[in-house]
Amino acid sequence: MKINNKIRQPIVTVAGHVDHGKTTILDNIRKTGIQEKEAGGITQKISFTKVPLENIKKRCPEIQKNELDFPGFLFIDTPGHAAFSHLRKRGGSLADLAILVIDVNEGLMPQTIEVIEILKLNKIPFIIALNKIDNIFGWTKKSENLKENIERQLKNTKLDFNEKLLMIISSLYHHGFNAKPFYEITDFATQLALIPCSGKTGEGIKEILMMLCGLSQKFLQENLKFKKETRGIILEIKKEKSMKYIEAILYNGALKSGDKIAIASFDDPIITKIRVLEEIESISNKFKPVIETHAANGIRMQLIDSEKILPGMPFTVFKDNLEEIQEEFKKEIQEKISTDKEGIIVKADSLGSLEALIKLLKQEHIKIVYASIGSINKRDLISAKTNLKINPLNSAIIGFNTEEDEEVKNIDKGKVKIIKNEVIYKLIEDLLEFQKEKANEIKKEKMLGLATICKLKILKQYVFRNSKPAIFGVQIIGGKLKSRIPLINEENISKSKIKVIQENNKKVDEAIKDQEVAISLPSILFDKQLQDSEYLYSDISEKQFKEFKKNKDILTIDEVKIIQEIAKIKRNDNPSWGI
Ligand code: GTP
Ligand code: MG
Repeated sequence: MKINNKIRQPIVTVAGHVDHGKTTILDNIRKTGIQEKEAGGITQKISFTKVPLENIKKRCPEIQKNELDFPGFLFIDTPGHAAFSHLRKRGGSLADLAILVIDVNEGLMPQTIEVIEILKLNKIPFIIALNKIDNIFGWTKKSENLKENIERQLKNTKLDFNEKLLMIISSLYHHGFNAKPFYEITDFATQLALIPCSGKTGEGIKEILMMLCGLSQKFLQENLKFKKETRGIILEIKKEKSMKYIEAILYNGALKSGDKIAIASFDDPIITKIRVLEEIESISNKFKPVIETHAANGIRMQLIDSEKILPGMPFTVFKDNLEEIQEEFKKEIQEKISTDKEGIIVKADSLGSLEALIKLLKQEHIKIVYASIGSINKRDLISAKTNLKINPLNSAIIGFNTEEDEEVKNIDKGKVKIIKNEVIYKLIEDLLEFQKEKANEIKKEKMLGLATICKLKILKQYVFRNSKPAIFGVQIIGGKLKSRIPLINEENISKSKIKVIQENNKKVDEAIKDQEVAISLPSILFDKQLQDSEYLYSDISEKQFKEFKKNKDILTIDEVKIIQEIAKIKRNDNPSWGI
């Protein structure tokens, strides 16, 4: 492909929910006027598709010859949102544009929403491909012109299509977008274009390409100017047999086989040399060895030293300018993962995904004390355990696309909560839920520290001692029994405080529902004072009762039932009690 010296290709990410048709749309785009070339190879994980402008013009004859002055598009197919969030460079996204693919029949799904959030966060201009229109019942191709074809569908098909379209428009509205079918767009800066399409039949693909050309022309001229300094981002480290391949994207400048490069890391930059350089071939989607390559390009490298390289890390050509590079990388990493004095622990699989996660957590005002790339390790667990003492709400470790390492899997995690997911907003939802539960637990502990809720059934067959103190068996019906709590019976007669609780002849501090234990009550004569009682309750004050009533939502159903019973007993003596 001819390299245009002035303007590079826009990098277009194709993202969306699993199976909504990202790869199929790209397959269809790749076919663009190249019947003579072989069909695309096996789809890789993150795969690149380079489509030269000539091919786009062939497919879209409406585009005037001199209207465009960029060399084509570099598409990135993402297997899921996670890979999509890897695509970060300093100060923004690697993607200049994006196509968000939505299955018109399914609408917005969790990963769609995730992608929308990340697009919004990074201010990436995008269009929506409403894919699989051919699946709408009765859909037939009656015209080469998409708008006309929609108009000409049979009444019920059109109704069905419009209903689906409106649903999606309204869901997008909830996410802050004013979306419209592409033929109604009057202003690309404020409106989001929806393009009904089918990756399978190819309908709408031409319109997608035209929209991308329009957006590039309009919004990206400045961004796309070729810059001399070489910049790229590591995407994946792949092992095949004994070889390690580093897949990366080059978004600025040029790179030569044999170049020394510096790759950022959490410590000093990794300085190494390119042994073999490959770039993605136009249309075919395959890597081919080259001597030199230019941005924007999907590349694959074999390096002299590929130890400790992490996905998402930036790289550049090394010109013996270690200090300058150290400074630049340090700034870049600090910018991406700024942390707080206190907070949760965050782990992710790449620098880009970590940055996306941190940004979204900060939007929710969640504080982060430590963030890093890789599996959840013992150090993370120790930090979280320290958090338990400082602020239990922060005793969580969030893992985005990452797992516990073997050591952590096999040790006791105590009260530390490990939350893992592949969808950021699910992680945030789970974390907020955990924090809410934890806050309630703390509040409840505080409340119950002042008063205990408990109902006991007296086991009359187990009276071990009648008095001084009376010792007998009880079964805990609900709540928690603790030593030293005062008790009443069903007549609101105080039965003094429990001295000792024993289970199987061993002293215990507390007992919970269904446990059977022996309790000792000083100054009670069992045969005179308890023989006729069936249940005992923990005694609470009117003030405590009101406090419980106010915070009913943090009590269990059992506990609520017990305090209602206690209140009923109390009201027998004093009708205004607790009202
Ligand atoms: P992931 O990469 O797994 O996230 O999926 P994807 O979004 O790349 O979807 P893919 O292109 O693999 O398509 C998923 C399934 O939907 C495949 O069986 C496709 O054949 C089918 N499919 C994709 N596009 C269309 C379409 O426009 N019409 C119909 N009828 N089927 C489609
Ligand atoms: Mg795919």
